Amino acid sequence: MKIIGVIGAGQMGAGIAQVSAAAGYRVLLSDVSKERAEAGKAGIAKGLDRLVAKEKIDGAARDATLAGIEPVGDVAAMAECDLVIEAATEREAIKRQIFASVGAVMRDDAILASNTSSIPITRLAQASPDPARFMGVHFFNPVPVMGLIELIRGLATSDATVAAVEAFGRTLGKEIVHANDAPGFIVNRVLMPMLNEACFALGEGVATIRDVDTACRLGLNHPMGPFTLADFIGLDTCLEITRVLFEGTGDPKFRPAPLLVKYVEAGWYGRKVGRGFYDYSGPEPVPTR
Ligand code: 3HC
Repeated sequence: MKIIGVIGAGQMGAGIAQVSAAAGYRVLLSDVSKERAEAGKAGIAKGLDRLVAKEKIDGAARDATLAGIEPVGDVAAMAECDLVIEAATEREAIKRQIFASVGAVMRDDAILASNTSSIPITRLAQASPDPARFMGVHFFNPVPVMGLIELIRGLATSDATVAAVEAFGRTLGKEIVHANDAPGFIVNRVLMPMLNEACFALGEGVATIRDVDTACRLGLNHPMGPFTLADFIGLDTCLEITRVLFEGTGDPKFRPAPLLVKYVEAGWYGRKVGRGFYDYSGPEPVPTR
């Protein structure tokens, strides 16, 4: 593989573009407009500047990574890609539209992968040009820091597709795990019930936001407590994935905590909007309860 297409220049797409370009691939980064794709690249440049300032990489490595990323205005440019990774909004209708437009231009031997965190791969594959050349490739946020990629094969995904995407993932320096196409795959199947349970505990008055976070950080050696992590991921995303677990399994143990639902109904989605379980408007995050 030489040329990678990344669709969606938000946090995840930009991270995937960055690590791919840093590994020597030529990357075409698209979004709904060329301006949005360019904004994604500008964000990558900022992150790389920070790494240069910290002396983690040198200026030449930053320049080489940036030179490898070409922002494009639409998916028509993806015709030359060997692998296209969709990292757009987590809405099935949007992903289906993207697959239709990119599918119309992709080469017959190119692979299409989705970074979905929760939509069933076998179902999504039905909207792809060829389900044998379609699979899930789940990166973690922040992509440049997190060492894992989860690969999810759909019912029709071919062995050759899995092998090619696994080989690509390893060249990014990531560890690879394989999951079957079950709700939440591996990480979110385990993580979301923990975050949801923290919301139940808070709602029941077991402890404060700060004490739950401190308990998990110091008592479990987690880098972030569950409320800090939920705010970091986005409470809307956490609720969405929890609903997928609940509906996909039919098991009441996955029912969303009422307090999580309330925060999402209030529009308190976490860090991205400045307020979630913490208020981020001041110099330090302040718990909201
Ligand atoms: N890009 C590049 N590097 C970054 C970065 C970014 N966006 N954010 C942080 N870093 C680097 C820093 O440069 C620093 O590197 P260094 O140790 O070599 O100097 C290192 O990461 C640590 O950063 P900081 O010192 O600024 O901050 P922290 O020590 O607090 O770490 C964190 C930040 C890496 C985000 C850490 O808190 C962490 O690992 N948190 C948990 C993240 C997590 O669980 N992510 C998965 C979420 S689930 C998911 O993505 C799945 C989805 O489907 C929901």
